[in-house]
Amino acid sequence: MSVADRVVNFGAGPSALPLTVLEEAQKGLINFNGTGIGIAEISHRSKEFQAFLTEFEQNLRTQLEVPSTHRILFTQGGGTTQFSAVVLNMIARHRLLHPNATAENTVLDYVVTGSWSKKAAEEARRLTAGVATVRTAVDARVYAKDGKAFDNIPPHAEFAFSPAPAVIYYCENETVDGVEFAHDAGAPASFPFARLPAAPLLPLVADYSSSFMCRPIPRLADHAVIYAGAQKNIGPAGLTILIVREDCVVDVDAAARLGAPPPVQHPAVLPIYVAGLVVRRMGEQGGIPYYEALNRRKSQKLYAAIHEGEQNGVFRRKKRFLEGAEAEGMKGLKGHRSVGGIRVSLYNAVTEEDVDKIIAYMNSFMQK
Ligand SMILES: Cc1ncc(COP(=O)(O)O)c(C=O)c1O
Repeated sequence: MSVADRVVNFGAGPSALPLTVLEEAQKGLINFNGTGIGIAEISHRSKEFQAFLTEFEQNLRTQLEVPSTHRILFTQGGGTTQFSAVVLNMIARHRLLHPNATAENTVLDYVVTGSWSKKAAEEARRLTAGVATVRTAVDARVYAKDGKAFDNIPPHAEFAFSPAPAVIYYCENETVDGVEFAHDAGAPASFPFARLPAAPLLPLVADYSSSFMCRPIPRLADHAVIYAGAQKNIGPAGLTILIVREDCVVDVDAAARLGAPPPVQHPAVLPIYVAGLVVRRMGEQGGIPYYEALNRRKSQKLYAAIHEGEQNGVFRRKKRFLEGAEAEGMKGLKGHRSVGGIRVSLYNAVTEEDVDKIIAYMNSFMQK
């Protein structure tokens, strides 16, 4: 098997990674930065790995314009892990701020616009039974064309936030349903920042798993926590990156003295390494503005081809479409198991040439 045998991976996560990064990682796996030790074997406390981590953090900070009020954390696990971890940490913060809070006045506001935020709200309900009250600030299904699908971002006026919640939660891009908040602040489908309670240090939490590092994060500084599983745009699964405002960083040692479990000691060194290489390369190529423009071009082209196919009704022949694509070296196109269909994921490492390739295939499929 050689590099030439690689296919185009349109998978939704784990997703494609840049070949140059994989080649560099291959070397690091044997000998990381001249240490004579492979990256999967080296101590996370070694000065070489610490230097790599510092550079990675700095690259993220620069490219995403993370202010000094926020820390960047590299945790184990995935997005789903954060459905629980964020709740536990934010409830702990709320209890420290309001020691006499009751379950009734410890309120968690969830914006439900798709399968992932629905799942996150369910997890919050499970975890906080008897401790807090989980509210739905808006449920997009109420505004769906058929009254049940996640197919829209509701109008701003429909978002109802509590006056002083412990968490305000939303998912920026609902990967399964294909629904995302608009990035243009004036757009009707943007996140309704103006409707949030007018208090400082809002407990605003955002799941950015499928849109992290592909465009700027609107109002980043107004968030308490932003998190993203790495396995879409920037690295292997097993790593989740968090951007956390200082006041939401729990003192884990103090918490451990009060009986909380000790923190995870070993960061996911190998995924951090690969993700760090990806983000370094992103910076060399022009950072977020470069990828934002590239991703826009990729998606405009693809949507144009989809609309043409839709008019002809040809993409309903899913099995034939997928088999033909695979025969031409394109994989990862099957829709999420919960919704079916076909899904073409255009994460950062999918090139414009890759998109041209699938469009050419779509066109030939339509003609046949
Ligand atoms: C927006 C979003 N949140 C959360 C998840 C779950 O992440 P994980 O599979 O890392 O637990 C996904 C996975 O696809 C996702 O797209």
